[in-house]
Amino acid sequence: MNFDLTSDQKQVRDMVREFAQREVAPYIQEWDAKGEFHREVLTKMGELGILGLPIPEEYGGSGFDYISLALACEELEYVDTFLRVIMSVHVGLNSLALLQWGTEAQKQRWLTPQATGEKIATFGLTEPNAGSDAGSIETTATRDGDSYLLNGAKMWISLAEVADHFLVFASVDRSLKHKGLTAFVVERGMPGFTTGTIKGKLGVRAGNTGELAFDNVRVPLENRIGEEGEGFKIAMSCIDQGRFTVGAGAVGLTRACLDASVRYAHERETFGVEIGRHQLVQQMIAKMALGYETSWLLTAKAAELKNRGVRNTRETSLMKWHACDVALQSADDAIQIHGAYGFSNEYPVERFWRNSRGAVIYEGTREIHTILQAEYALGYRNDKPLSHPQPPAVGYENPELALTL
Ligand code: CAA
Repeated sequence: MNFDLTSDQKQVRDMVREFAQREVAPYIQEWDAKGEFHREVLTKMGELGILGLPIPEEYGGSGFDYISLALACEELEYVDTFLRVIMSVHVGLNSLALLQWGTEAQKQRWLTPQATGEKIATFGLTEPNAGSDAGSIETTATRDGDSYLLNGAKMWISLAEVADHFLVFASVDRSLKHKGLTAFVVERGMPGFTTGTIKGKLGVRAGNTGELAFDNVRVPLENRIGEEGEGFKIAMSCIDQGRFTVGAGAVGLTRACLDASVRYAHERETFGVEIGRHQLVQQMIAKMALGYETSWLLTAKAAELKNRGVRNTRETSLMKWHACDVALQSADDAIQIHGAYGFSNEYPVERFWRNSRGAVIYEGTREIHTILQAEYALGYRNDKPLSHPQPPAVGYENPELALTL
């Protein structure tokens, strides 16, 4: 076991860090306060190859491994969660799913322009009445000749008003429960398909979150991903990738909390000494340092399995659950260390807290992960190898791969 990063991984980390620090960090407090989404950030991410980081070069990507993807998510969320959310939906929940489940024609058509950032993608599973119980979605797909008619609505969809391609799940037969779910690519502009933005979010205010509505949207057969009834497995395998990006981003949020707290603990004095000298402040900082390391180690373990194309549902759930809980606790402690200043937006820690809160809900609530982990430990849940495994990472097979960034 070797914990050193390769030169490729370090270059990805440094490039993404430099991008996020230069293009977003100086403005994020203002964008967050005004609730503004800046589309040009996506364009720059596309130009730098960040939106196609783990996608093979033959589909327009950069061909890096999952450690590189994790480092990118860490650096992005160190600056703001909205940047990492872009990676979660565009790369994790959509592009990697097309790579795993799409036909060659579907990859050429949708994955390639997504990997270059020419087109933006997201994922639509959650509905007003179905979140954790994903198998009970109400959106329907009715076969009509060589197409399907989609009817229903999706809720809490990141990049809803920004994306061009939507990987959407609908049921072809609701009596079959999760075995009726089927996956489709819906494209912006299809008649009957509309999107909207949700206002009043607690966090990720510089991001775009919204809803999708389908009113007899005619979706051609060639837009179906996988077979009828394969949608639940496809959705869950997408979520295995999405959760990984969420957990890896939470590592960055914890590091941001730690760095802000250490800085402030050196600056602020009480009782004649800097507050870093007080043991109760030290305890909070020590917990952040520990949580950062454990979250990163769980991330690296899941990344290693993904690099080899091995099923990693248990390890990914564990890292997402742990890293997101650590980030929330770290943000809460960072506010405590900053005292009353932590309660105002003069310092970034209140934004860190608001941003960390959502990740304990989306991509599997804390409670879903707790149940999953208990079931694995008790032997009630045993994952089988997948019929369509995620291909091993290109960068892993060929560690000497030349940088294309
Ligand atoms: N990969 C592939 N197949 C999988 C899978 C995976 N990760 N997980 C489950 N499956 C398969 C199983 O093998 C099983 O197949 P068979 O029927 O052939 O045996 C089938 O799917 C059913 O699986 P389970 O028996 O495990 O289903 P369950 O009902 O016991 O548990 C659950 C399901 C774990 C509760 C699941 O519904 C779940 O994780 N819920 C949370 C949903 C979630 O995370 N939603 C987030 C939405 S995305 C989001 O928030 C982001 C956003 O929009 C921006």
